[in-house]
Amino acid sequence: MSTTEVHISPEAIAASRANERMPDACVMVIFGASGDLTKRKLLPALYHLEQAGLLPKQFAVVGVARRPLGDSFAADMREGIVEFGGVKDDDAKLNDFIARVQYHAMNFDDDGGYAKLKDLLASLDAKLSTCGNRLFYLATAPEYFGDIIDRLGSHGMSKPESACWVRVIIEKPFGHDLESARALNAEVNSVFDEEQIFRIDHYLGKETVQNIMVFRFGNGIFEPIWNRNYIEHVQITAAESIGIEGRGPFYEKAGALRDVVQNHVMELLSLVAMEPPVSFEADSVRAEKVKVWRAINPIHNMDTARGQYGPGRIDGVPVIGYRQEERVSPTSQTETYVGLRVGIENWRWAGVPFYIRAGKRMPKRVTEITIQFKQPPMHLFSEQPDYCKVIEPNVISMRIQPDEGITLRFGAKLPGPNMNVAPVNMDFNYAAAFGVSSANGYERLLLDAMLGDATLFAHRDGVEATWALMTPVLEHWAREPIPDLPNYAAGTWGPESSEQLLAADGHIWRHL
Ligand code: BG6
Repeated sequence: MSTTEVHISPEAIAASRANERMPDACVMVIFGASGDLTKRKLLPALYHLEQAGLLPKQFAVVGVARRPLGDSFAADMREGIVEFGGVKDDDAKLNDFIARVQYHAMNFDDDGGYAKLKDLLASLDAKLSTCGNRLFYLATAPEYFGDIIDRLGSHGMSKPESACWVRVIIEKPFGHDLESARALNAEVNSVFDEEQIFRIDHYLGKETVQNIMVFRFGNGIFEPIWNRNYIEHVQITAAESIGIEGRGPFYEKAGALRDVVQNHVMELLSLVAMEPPVSFEADSVRAEKVKVWRAINPIHNMDTARGQYGPGRIDGVPVIGYRQEERVSPTSQTETYVGLRVGIENWRWAGVPFYIRAGKRMPKRVTEITIQFKQPPMHLFSEQPDYCKVIEPNVISMRIQPDEGITLRFGAKLPGPNMNVAPVNMDFNYAAAFGVSSANGYERLLLDAMLGDATLFAHRDGVEATWALMTPVLEHWAREPIPDLPNYAAGTWGPESSEQLLAADGHIWRHL
């Protein structure tokens, strides 16, 4: 059953993609620009903004990193835009755009390098009339964040002059536990005002993630049933079929809980569980999200499952185990899979379990939220012998990626003389409805940061609230190594212990 009967005109979609506000002329400075993120995500996203006419005419990018890359940097970025941005090599605007990209080599602890960077930015201001407007982007390894922030401060680059603005985007991971997140917040806030700080989580830039709020608060029919009276439980799955993609040293220190659960998955959970904000202003939205995280009960060890993938097969192709990956310890205890059972202690959600699973080397890439509703109070059509097998609970599935859309599953009468019931789907599919699949999250977030809109960025309170939840789990895990790792084969849905998390409540993970 398909549902996308309402046709939206291409003009309406184009108008929605255009922005009423154009960012001011500015210079974006990317620290750690020689890393993968810049080439794979940031530059392609900037170029898509340029194609859509959403970048200011007076704009420049300065990549900063330690290696002496010179002009090869811009050429490399061009390749990235073509390869990862799906842009044609002869795209009309590409050469002009690349002419605005340059590189500045320096060590992040070298004061002389900051002085030269300041001069370079002043010369760009003079040439482009960018007026001192700066967007700093910290895409380095997290251990450099503090140093860069301090030196931007001591070189007088953190405070705007007169009518200009200076903002800083800080990549995840923002800290590695509660204490380090607090320390980093204190350091950043000692140099920049909170309004200047944009802690990025690219999940919030995804259309499907923003649509959770529209689905809940832009429609009248869902919110009345969005609570413990009607909802049995919620499942959030963030499964990836990829492994760690050569990021051994990073992942060994991070693991799945720090890499995706503390941030991406907690963001999804807060959007599903939050109360309606009084407005769509940054402060209102972020305050409601923080309330959710603060209402979560402490997560006990018995409500967690962790796993690490061993060798296996993905789509029939053999892949190595985590411990065989490059620059990973052969006795590593790092988790590549996390399962959690979370309870939110408030009037809306008390008694409704939220189950979370996130893992690498799962059978497929799928991020999905399922809301499972309670069964009707009586079984009216129960004469059929296999009733229990056929009547499924109602489920709303929010497909975040890659097959973006929303499905409502309900029971319908099977044709024929008997009152037999079968589950059917009503489906909304982004690509079918709007003709385009949703944009990469970075586009929206870079644009918002240039416009000074922090609604889709994390606030310091939120980051600390999620770390406060995760830190005891991490500490417990560090004290209790798992003897039988690896405990799931690549290409499977994680360890047995994860099934047990739900089995204890009489539930099972949905088959995705
Ligand atoms: C990143 C993690 O934040 O998110 C990666 O560091 C992960 O390990 C990625 O693969 C997933 O993002 P997406 O947008 O592909 O779901």
